[in-house]
Amino acid sequence: MNILHYHSDPKILEAIHGIADPGNIRILFICLGNICRSPAAEGMMLDVIERHDDTARWTIDSAGTGGYHVGDLPDGRMRAHARRRGINLTHICRQISEIDFDRFDIIIGMDASNLSRLHAMAPSVDDERKILPMAAFFNQPAHFDHVPDPYYNGAEGFETVLDLLTGATENLYDTIVANLP
Ligand code: 4NP
Repeated sequence: MNILHYHSDPKILEAIHGIADPGNIRILFICLGNICRSPAAEGMMLDVIERHDDTARWTIDSAGTGGYHVGDLPDGRMRAHARRRGINLTHICRQISEIDFDRFDIIIGMDASNLSRLHAMAPSVDDERKILPMAAFFNQPAHFDHVPDPYYNGAEGFETVLDLLTGATENLYDTIVANLP
């Protein structure tokens, strides 16, 4: 995967400069099932925003490229691991649709497969500019170039996801706030 990095990559600045209304910053997190990684990213981003006392100007959501779990709460293992870090995950699973490219300014994929699905779905080249990899916001040095799917793995996989997302959501928040149009 082509690795972007939040300190320097022009694609990241271009996506942030495309935010339609800096008073309503709309971020959508995407994974495959929308029951593990992307609802965790949503919950952790909301936590960052709350800690900055900055909830009024953000719209945060998540969705899956697949529709296997639509209507479900996040995976019980993901909820348990997040709760130990003080984060309650209450998102109800939904599948992404083309309309989401109108409803969100920045659309963040957890892995290469999510990202290629998003690029294939994007209605226009302008909409493709909204798509960014979560890995672009990892703390450095990073041992991963994507957020690994924990679904078929043990507890360690869920902890890895939360560790990666802790840094990534803080860096995402700081990068957006520092570069708003
Ligand atoms: P997620 O994990 O993409 O992080 O939500 C998965 C959850 C469910 C499935 C795959 C990945 N599944 O195939 O049902």
